[in-house]
Amino acid sequence: MKTQEGSERQPKTGSARLLELAATKKPLIIGAGFLSALASVVSFVPFVAIYYIVREIVGAYPGFDLLDSEKVIRLGWLAFGGVIGNILLYFAALMCSHLAAFGTLYQLKLNFAYHIARLPLGFHLGYGSGKLRKVMDENIEKIEGFIAHQFPDIVASFVAPVVMLVILFAFDWRFGLAALAGIAVSLFVEFRAYGNDSAKKMMDNYQASLEEMNNASVEYIRGISVVKAFRQTVFSFRSLHDTIKKYTSFVLPYTLSWENYMSLFMTLINHIYLFILPVGILIGMRATDYASFAQTFIFYLIFVPSISSVLMKIMYVSSGMMQISGGVERMDSVLNEKVLPEPQKERRSLGSDIVFEDVSFSYEGSGAPALNHVSFAAKQGQVTAIVGPSGSGKSTIAHLIPRFYDVSGGRIFVGGTDIRDMELATLMDKVSFVFQDVFLFKQSIMENIRIGNQGASDEEIIAAAKAAQCHEFIKRLPQGYHTVIGTRGVHLSGGERQRIAIARAIVKNAPILVLDEATAFADPENEHLIQKAFEKLIQNKTVIIIAHRLSTVRGADKIIVMKEGAAVEQGTHDELVRAGGKYSEMWKMYTSSLHWKMSRAGREVHV
Ligand SMILES: Nc1ncnc2c1ncn2[C@@H]1O[C@H](COP(=O)(O)OP(=O)(O)O)[C@@H](O)[C@H]1O
Ligand SMILES: [Mg+2]
Repeated sequence: MKTQEGSERQPKTGSARLLELAATKKPLIIGAGFLSALASVVSFVPFVAIYYIVREIVGAYPGFDLLDSEKVIRLGWLAFGGVIGNILLYFAALMCSHLAAFGTLYQLKLNFAYHIARLPLGFHLGYGSGKLRKVMDENIEKIEGFIAHQFPDIVASFVAPVVMLVILFAFDWRFGLAALAGIAVSLFVEFRAYGNDSAKKMMDNYQASLEEMNNASVEYIRGISVVKAFRQTVFSFRSLHDTIKKYTSFVLPYTLSWENYMSLFMTLINHIYLFILPVGILIGMRATDYASFAQTFIFYLIFVPSISSVLMKIMYVSSGMMQISGGVERMDSVLNEKVLPEPQKERRSLGSDIVFEDVSFSYEGSGAPALNHVSFAAKQGQVTAIVGPSGSGKSTIAHLIPRFYDVSGGRIFVGGTDIRDMELATLMDKVSFVFQDVFLFKQSIMENIRIGNQGASDEEIIAAAKAAQCHEFIKRLPQGYHTVIGTRGVHLSGGERQRIAIARAIVKNAPILVLDEATAFADPENEHLIQKAFEKLIQNKTVIIIAHRLSTVRGADKIIVMKEGAAVEQGTHDELVRAGGKYSEMWKMYTSSLHWKMSRAGREVHV
């Protein structure tokens, strides 16, 4: 699967791309096309049969005892057979196309999910989850609908007009020409409504504004607590309000633009016999053989209404193609986003020392670099702490280690190998992290912890939960470890969520552990217990710990002090205090605030 997409993919667009997508399941789609073509040929059989019936009847008129009733009945059965054959063949075509569509949907979703998982975190932050969800759910699902329902109709809409034209001209070319004039006028009107560039542009604008509105409403709902707390309304929530207004401004002209053409088109295709009538009258006035004239004229009057269904199909197909092509473009734009490059040949790394060598990094679109020539080493078996004011680049360091982003300058080594020369999967196996904002899936607690290690047994998970001080509160939940997060009445506090993330890291048991303010939400008693759990966890590992409370980092083997994206001091606690620099300043402030709080409260206070 890895080689399926990526750089070699030919960028196709429009209907070519749609057919390429449909061809994911080639035999099924060819079968569907063939059956649908056959169905559409067979659908004309009843009309031909009726022509011959009319001929028999008119030929016998007025002496009906001369009527070859056996033949008429045979023709009647033929017409009936045509109807049934059409239904059966079309049904079989739809079966094939549905099977093809589900197969394609499965493949596309899988590829898409696989692809977005490998995109750098920066892409996700910039693109917006509402928009991405819409691409993944709606746009890709529309492709399924397109292949299942519209693909057979596309084939039919190519085959049917050909058969129709043959029939139109086979019996009397003059009537054929009249009908053709009617068809040409209708198609012209239809093209004015759908086929031109400005219509496509309008459709794209409409789709894009719909997407923006979706994104804004997802954001609105996510931020509902802020909205409520600050008494915001939809009207004061600017971005949502603006997108709704923008949507309105696109949807109205878009609808109006084709409304008139549509009415005209519908009227025309339902009245093509109006083109036949004058021709019929003209021919009839000069006819000598009334019987043969009547045969043909009656046939055309019966046949012509069937043209409307053929034209309607063409219309649905073309509007469907237009609607979906925008969605396909959006899907492709995500698929064309560059994934983090993976090495052709993996370089093995030995051990798990982490070395930052002159690392610089800037977030996309922001001016000042978040990290500026940062160099340090974090040794295996040691705890390396990173401290510094907020915004100084601590979390950025943590995010660069698992390659959420790639460095802008310098190199990061794990076990002596540049992390860009390691397979992402290998790197991920080596690193566990606990970040400040913990994401829990709508699954049972058990499964949420198992994310750390798919192979973990229930016992191992419970042991990890105990070590992370989760066991007590999990037991109190309605279904214990099988309680599904996010169901009614289940709410976990920030500290509890964080402890679940720690349990995840414990079951993963990776050689590198990155903790970004991992105990920030924990209360003092719990923090003490978690620290004890960590002591077991971190033996012989490379640990990078980012912490608020200097008490937490005091015992670290090495402390790195960050300031405005630069590592300004490095050393042990004692060394740094002695050096009298930034750290000793922070330490002084910390201890004096501790005294201050203790004397105010008159008892020991943890900060
Ligand atoms: N996703 C992001 N996009 C743009 N800028 C960011 C992003 N994350 C952090 N920054 C900026 O990078 C700098 C360092 O941030 P961060 O590493 O989170 O600091 P810390 O963890 O020390 O508080 C800050 O100036 C912050 O505004
Ligand atoms: Mg941070």
